[in-house]
Amino acid sequence: MQKKIEALRSGALTKIQKARTVVELDRIELSLFGRKKGVMTDILKGLKNLDPEARKVQGQLANDAKKAIFEAIAARRAELIEHQTIEAIDVTECLIPPLPHGTLHPITLISQELEEMFAGMGFRVYDGPELEADYYNFEGLNFDADHPARDMQDTFYIKNLPGRLLRTHTSTAQVRAMREYGAPLAVICLGRCFRNEETDARHEHTFFQLEGFIVGNDITFAHLKGILEATARYLYGQDTRVRLRPKYYPFVEPGVSGEVTCLFCRGDGCRLCKSTGFLEIFGAGRIHPNVLREGGLDPKKWSGLAFGFGLTRLAMLKYGIDDVRLFESGDLAFLKQFYGGV
Ligand code: PHE
Repeated sequence: MQKKIEALRSGALTKIQKARTVVELDRIELSLFGRKKGVMTDILKGLKNLDPEARKVQGQLANDAKKAIFEAIAARRAELIEHQTIEAIDVTECLIPPLPHGTLHPITLISQELEEMFAGMGFRVYDGPELEADYYNFEGLNFDADHPARDMQDTFYIKNLPGRLLRTHTSTAQVRAMREYGAPLAVICLGRCFRNEETDARHEHTFFQLEGFIVGNDITFAHLKGILEATARYLYGQDTRVRLRPKYYPFVEPGVSGEVTCLFCRGDGCRLCKSTGFLEIFGAGRIHPNVLREGGLDPKKWSGLAFGFGLTRLAMLKYGIDDVRLFESGDLAFLKQFYGGV
């Protein structure tokens, strides 16, 4: 009997140590201590049939064995659980179905692209207000008091806020930035602009522009052409050409309209470019001396150039969007097309 208990004890301890899973360990435990078929249970039950002397000795042995085995099982179980948990959790496994997420607006995409390109050319990004003083939108930019652009039909004025309006272009950044940073400087300003337009597929009261300007010594039209060409090629490919034609804006002198090779016919002539092979994209020119003066800079010492273009129009051309109203519509089916939509 004594030998049997000792053999059982050492056999059980080896088995427990070798158990590789908790299930296996449970099975061992059951085979030893199961109420009906447990080997140890049988031995412990059998003790009561022994005479008192033997029962004392055997009982001691059996209880020691029981205790040792229990401890071994508990220790091994803890080991296995710890080990198993590490193996069982795959932290890369995603049990939750992917949540639908938002997408970037096409104007945001094109803005980010252009900001990066201009930053690469040394421009800093300036953020002007959308609710603007008449001064920065018109007066400081050499607009006459009776210039037609000031007309109520074009500009949103603010009731109860005299001298305030929603900016009609991002050229407002010119005098602001000159006053803030002085010269020399190279700035771009991107943002929302507003004009009181009847909306249709080609007109919208809210649209985006990008304004860029440089002030320095000896800034010439060659710089302007270089920047506009770099921009057009960056957006529309290396074979894109730029041509400049005279156009009047009060805040530049001389002023030009910048046209680029038509994206659709690549210069052959089509309906979009009205058979000219070019599309008008930029407004640009040398900054008017009056504007430099308003910015606190001496026009005899400094010269500058400025250009501006509609980001909304650029996005329409780039993505082939034929209705400008889609941009402000909040139409998710439209917006999801652009970037990583789910
Ligand atoms: N601000 C002009 C517009 O809204 C564009 C422009 C910018 C023209 C800079 C010349 C120089 O149309």
